[in-house]
Amino acid sequence: MIAQNWKCSNCGYVSVGLFPPEKCPVCGAGRDAFETEAEWQIAPGELDGLIKACWKVTYGLYVISSIDGEKMNGQICNTLFQITSDPPRMAVGINHKNLTHEFIEKSHVFAASILGRNDHRLVRRFGYRSGREFDKFKGVRITKGKTGAPIIADSMGYLECIVLPDKTVDAGTHSIFIGDIVGGALFKETEEPMTYAYYHVTKDSAQG
Ligand SMILES: Cc1cc2nc3c(=O)[nH]c(=O)nc-3n(C[C@H](O)[C@H](O)[C@H](O)COP(=O)(O)O)c2cc1C
Repeated sequence: MIAQNWKCSNCGYVSVGLFPPEKCPVCGAGRDAFETEAEWQIAPGELDGLIKACWKVTYGLYVISSIDGEKMNGQICNTLFQITSDPPRMAVGINHKNLTHEFIEKSHVFAASILGRNDHRLVRRFGYRSGREFDKFKGVRITKGKTGAPIIADSMGYLECIVLPDKTVDAGTHSIFIGDIVGGALFKETEEPMTYAYYHVTKDSAQG
């Protein structure tokens, strides 16, 4: 995941990523129009330390859910964080290709169900296949709050948000949705939350 700056030779738009975008989101020029900008290139000797430093950034794991009318969907996400406390606001990074992205864009709401240390089964169910292939919520106990987005009843708790108009950031492959927290509750006071690092260390040996 080494980002490079790719500059559109047609309009000057700069995209950051491993590869240039398929087409320029500003002028529509094709991938061939993009050139790397040498000033931001990462020196080979820097790479190893940079990747290792990325691995030290800590995250939790969540099911981010949303709705489209009567339909609901959710996905696993580690890129959720509280961005301000007053007002209470969350930011979440969701891949453009995901069904959850489509639903959040349509409904302007999302809920984050907070996963506990034993929720490997939920990560497998919500994190590896799209809701375009099957109904991820079938057989999963849910509850609903103010926004109507489904909340996993057996999770540690949840926060639900209304996406703020004009504050969604296009981060290349992902959108960063920023939302005001409008509801939430803690269901399990004492359980330890699942972290991204803990999941990766335990995923192959976890039961259930
Ligand atoms: C541990 C883990 C963390 C993930 N974190 C993110 C994330 O932060 N953002 C994201 O867009 N996808 C993330 N994903 C991938 C999505 O959960 C996955 O692509 C999902 O199948 C998308 O489902 P959907 O198309 O039903 O929305 C993660 C997956 C796993 C297993």
